[in-house]
Amino acid sequence: MDVDRIRNDFPCLQQSINGRVPIYFDSACTTLRPVQVIDAMNEYYTKYPSCGGRSVHKFGTEVTIRCDDSRDKIQKLLNAEMPEEIVFVKNTTEGINLVANSLGFEKGDVVLGGDKEHNSNLVPWQVLSDRIGSKYDMIESDEDGSFSMENMKEKMSDKVKMVSIAQVSNLDGSTVPAKDLIEESHDHGSLVLFDSAQAVPHMKIDVQDLDIDFLCFSLHKMCGPSGMGVLYGKYDLLDKLDTFLVGGSSVADTTYEDYKILKPPQKFEAGLQNFSGIIGSGAAVDYLMDIGMEEVHEHEKKMNTIATKELSSIPGVRILGPEPEKRGGILAFLVDGMEPHDVAMILDEVANIMIRSGMHCNNSWFNAHGINGSSRASFYIYNTEEEVHIFKEELEKIVGEFR
Ligand code: ALA
Repeated sequence: MDVDRIRNDFPCLQQSINGRVPIYFDSACTTLRPVQVIDAMNEYYTKYPSCGGRSVHKFGTEVTIRCDDSRDKIQKLLNAEMPEEIVFVKNTTEGINLVANSLGFEKGDVVLGGDKEHNSNLVPWQVLSDRIGSKYDMIESDEDGSFSMENMKEKMSDKVKMVSIAQVSNLDGSTVPAKDLIEESHDHGSLVLFDSAQAVPHMKIDVQDLDIDFLCFSLHKMCGPSGMGVLYGKYDLLDKLDTFLVGGSSVADTTYEDYKILKPPQKFEAGLQNFSGIIGSGAAVDYLMDIGMEEVHEHEKKMNTIATKELSSIPGVRILGPEPEKRGGILAFLVDGMEPHDVAMILDEVANIMIRSGMHCNNSWFNAHGINGSSRASFYIYNTEEEVHIFKEELEKIVGEFR
């Protein structure tokens, strides 16, 4: 992978702040955007800033064609059976809410998650329990943070209607054994939803091979626009889902007395869409597929392995989660005697090194462990070994001085 060439595509890496080029290690939160995506979005606003799926004039037709193209590209990225299985939503959160609110759960149904779910894959199920009397339960991880198939098997029963779990944890990068988990769920008659916000941007995913029922992710974590997400669902399941948001474009016809809802994906895409976002999403998928998802994954693993080795040598630094090969591009750590926010702020202040700190929307796990957050570095295609070495040196200095 030609990281130098890739870096040239990212305008924000061409600037210097206080004499230093920024080192961006916060891609699990949001990735940087390449010029190809920015241009595609600008092109919508400068050349054909109109409405897709409705108007028959030249501008409108261009938007419709480009939005259809983007859907096709995402279908290919996931190897979905058909483009109609790709629903455009605002973000991963909206995709999960859509399924939680539309699948027709009933009192007594059990939804299972992991013990490190993002609030977006926890609160929708908790609210559903409060509303209808379903039950939410979680599968505890192994001691090192890895997914425990044994613990999952203990929780499975014919009451479990959905296993909704992060494919890769944003807390420590631990990754579920996707195929085994899905098989185990299906054997018990349960559906599976993957919160793949930290997976789709980082590895090759084949939804048909996985036999996954639903999968959600956000484009801003994969070089794409903010405010764009995808819900993938098997077509028959999407067809059976109740509607969630309704209005223009989601209906074939209405009278004063009645309405006729369209088929998926239109039935879920009510109202005027984020056209520049959809077009930018297609450009982001093109960008990553040109690099190759296996290459992306290998590069992150390499960065994380080097960084883990380097940070492990700093006294007082403790890394969360299993070994780096099982953590994708995520390296979460604690520094004895220092607040995570202080570590992040000082790194930014002294060396323009941008990491995230806090609970990363995983309050439930941190609360259960009596920890008030972690510092988290996360790597992507534009990060270099040299940046990792600088990170280690600067962190070592800070730990030496402030701890
Ligand atoms: N979920 C994002 C993160 O982990 C925002 O940083």
